[in-house]
This record gives sequence, structure tokens and C-alpha cells, in this order.
Amino acid sequence: MQRTLVKDALARSEPLDSILLQGWVRTRRDAKAFSFIELNDGSCLKGIQIVADAALPDYAQIEKATTGASLEVHGQLVPSQGQGQKWEVVARSFKVVGEADATYPLQKKGHSLEFLREIAHLRPRANLFGAIFRVRSRLAYAIHQFFQERSFVYVHTPIIGASDCEGAGEMFRVTTLDPKQPPLREDGAVDFTKDFFQKPTFLTVSGQLEGEVFACALSNIYTFGPTFRAENSHTSRHAAEFWMIEPEIAFCDLQGDMDLAEAFVKYLIRDVREHCTADLEFFGKFVDKELLGRLDFVLERPFQRVSYDEAVSILLASGKAFEYPVSPGAALQAEHERYLTEVHFKCPTTVFNYPKGIKPFYMRLNDDGLTVAAMDVLVPGIGEIVGGSQREERLEVLQANLRHHGLSEKDYWWYVDLRRYGSVPHSGFGLGFERLLMFVTGVANIRDVIPFARTPGTAEF
Ligand code: 4AD
Ligand code: MG
Repeated sequence: MQRTLVKDALARSEPLDSILLQGWVRTRRDAKAFSFIELNDGSCLKGIQIVADAALPDYAQIEKATTGASLEVHGQLVPSQGQGQKWEVVARSFKVVGEADATYPLQKKGHSLEFLREIAHLRPRANLFGAIFRVRSRLAYAIHQFFQERSFVYVHTPIIGASDCEGAGEMFRVTTLDPKQPPLREDGAVDFTKDFFQKPTFLTVSGQLEGEVFACALSNIYTFGPTFRAENSHTSRHAAEFWMIEPEIAFCDLQGDMDLAEAFVKYLIRDVREHCTADLEFFGKFVDKELLGRLDFVLERPFQRVSYDEAVSILLASGKAFEYPVSPGAALQAEHERYLTEVHFKCPTTVFNYPKGIKPFYMRLNDDGLTVAAMDVLVPGIGEIVGGSQREERLEVLQANLRHHGLSEKDYWWYVDLRRYGSVPHSGFGLGFERLLMFVTGVANIRDVIPFARTPGTAEF
């Protein structure tokens, strides 16, 4: 007999004479003539109630159906007598598939998120994490749907590469050299020509540069994959391994880029509002009481758009004593970003035209010669969720930028070639998938929205 998922059983409009359910015991309550088991299989937030009659031949096993044990139940789906559920299953037979003794760590409710991180192999069985990872899955699907509906081509950019797209020098080296005895050059430096790829290589920090190659051929593309940053940031918003979505659009300027980013974020919120209702209501109840109101508000209103200069003026005029003072020409700190989006505008805010000195080499120089056509989308509770720009499509300007950033044109020859042959204005952005999940779920720490977090000092599981 085929298994029915709890989600499908609960959604039925008709009873069923025969049903097979498989899942894990959440709780068991024994009465005189019956036991009641709440069975959860992760297909939805709710479990289903199993009623096991003490007269069943299998009833001798009931003591083994403890919290955490896996269970298989054959029975009848009938309208529930109890409160708060439409259906329950009256068991005809059941089998404890895998026992879980009293050491099972998820016995009681109300464990701290810190403790649950230490048992990341079991936490998906907790309500909160089941909900988070169902939403994560749905969002991944909606991301593909958004781009595929708009004829964007999905491109798989490499994980291992030789260039530092963001120029921040925060890369994990990939090597097969013996760390104890690496081959050395005459000057004593490690000889990477003897390494696997015959040059220094790293895990990618962004698929953008390769994405541009494909946009300059297939017009509209997107990537969606893991990216790696060896930044020693101990914050609730930084992970060393995170997933990024990077669209790249040919014949598109910064305006079109900002429009796409806004439409994208709204589309994703609308999608989970519609398809993950129960999970989002759960977050609204137990994680962040203002979540649903905030998400609906974001859908209704256009994002605010301000130039970097305007943003700095607002921050300076705020009279607020920031930990890092606002300094024109310098990067905005997270506290500045959050002031703009949370306090000043009280809605998602797109900041554009940043000083060229604080941005990577590939961004397009504006006519003022001082700023680049960059944009960041800031959202309440998190700060930066999207970073993007129009790319420098003019050969000479790009060559000058490379020099200015101390980068060798030789290392970027293929990237520069795009400006040599049929160059076009083009733009793109990167959306941090985990930051989006934090925004949509209200969960405050990035470690709790990725299955197995990699952060400085932590790579367990
Ligand atoms: O602003 P970033 O560094 O931009 C880029 O990588 C560009 N190449 C994107 C592009 O134009 N194609 O990163 C983009 C987004 C950020 O806005 C943030 O949401 C997320 O990636 N992000 C991180 N998320 C988690 N942990 C980290 N350490 C992150 N660093 C960036
Ligand atoms: Mg950024």
C-alpha cells in the first residue's frame, strides 16, 4: 500500500477506509482503553492524531512508541472527535520502525536556538525548523519560477575559480599541495604552478563575472548556488558559506536593475504568503509578532529610493549617536543601513550611486566621475539583502579601473574581452538567499535558516 503524507491526509475532504502513514512520534498520551499519538512526518507543520485501541494485537508495542520513535500506521481516516483537527486515524495495526529512548534530545519543547544548533542533525524535527526548511524549499522553487517565467536562462557558474570578484580578499584557497612541504620558488614563496590547477585557486565569492559572460550571449540569465566568504565576521547576518541568486541582464541600466530587484523580492514574499500560510502564521505567532503585517506592508508599497549622498545627509541630520560615525565617502555600516530602512523610511529602501572608492572594479563609473552605478536594497531587521550594479561596459574605463584596483588585466583577459567584442550596457545583482529567509521568517540569526551553518570556528555536521 502507498504511503499518504500527513499533509495530504489532513487536506482530504472525504474519509478513507484504508490509509498508511509513516512518521515520527511527537507525543503519546495513554488513556485506559486507548493511546493517542501525535504523528508528524515533516510534510506540514501539523501532526495527525493516531488513535490506538488497547485491544489491538500490536498494542503490546505501545510502550516503544515514545517521542522521537519512527512509526508506521495502517488504519482508517475518520472525522476527529477531538478539538482542533478535522481528521484522525484509527489504527488497525502499527509498527515501531525505529525506537528512540529517553536520551532523545527533543523531548521537551522550548529548547534554546543555541542548543538546537548543537543538534543540527535533529533540529529539522522541531516545528520551527521544519517550517523554516519547508519555506526555504518553496522559496528556491519560486526563484526559479520567477526567472523562468521571464525567460531568464539558468547558468551554473563554477565553484572553483581564480579571480576575486568582490576584490575583498576574503577567499578560501583550494589546493592539493602538501601543507607541510609545499613546493617553493627560488624566492621562498609557495610555487602554485605545481598545484592542481597550476595556479592559485579559490572557492567562488560570486558567480557574477561568469554570469556576465552568459548575459552577453543569452541576454537574461541567473545563477543560484553556494558562495563562500572567508570573512571573519561574527554577526547574525554573515555566513562563510551562503547561497546567492545572481541575475544578469544585457541591455539594462541601473534603473532596470533596481526595478527587477524590487519585483523579485515582492514576488517571493507574495509566493510564500500564498503557499506557506501555516508555516508563516507559526513564525508570526512564535518568532516575530509583527512579521505578517510587515510582509504585507512590503507588498503594498514601492521601495524607497535614495542616492548615497541623500542617505548620508539623512543620517547626518538624524542627530543619532551611531557607534560608527557617519562619514561621507565611507561605506554605510549595518547600523546606518538599519536606521534608514527601520527608522527613517520604515520600509525597504534602495540606496544607489555609491562613491567609487568603496566599490569593486566592475561597477560602471557615473558621469560625475566620482560615483558608480551601484545599488543596495536594505530591509528592516536585516539591512542589506541585495547588492548590485550596472557593469562597466567601456573597454578603456574598465582597463583603468583594473589598474586603479591593483588588478592585472592579464588575470581578467576573458572578462575584458567582453568589452572588446559586442559590448553592451548590462546590469545585475546578488540576493543573499539566507538574508531573504531571515526577512521572510523573522528568524534573527543566519545560522538558523541554513541547514548546516558554516561560520568562523564552526563546520560541524
Ligand atoms: O553585495 P555582495 O557582496 O555582491 C556581490 O557579490 C555581487 N557580485 C552581486 C552581483 O552584483 N551579482 O553580495 C550580495 C548579497 C548581499 O547583499 C547579501 O545579501 C549576501 O549576498 N551576502 C551574504 N549573506 C550571508 N553571509 C555573507 N557573508 C554574505 N555576504 C554577502
Ligand atoms: Mg554588498
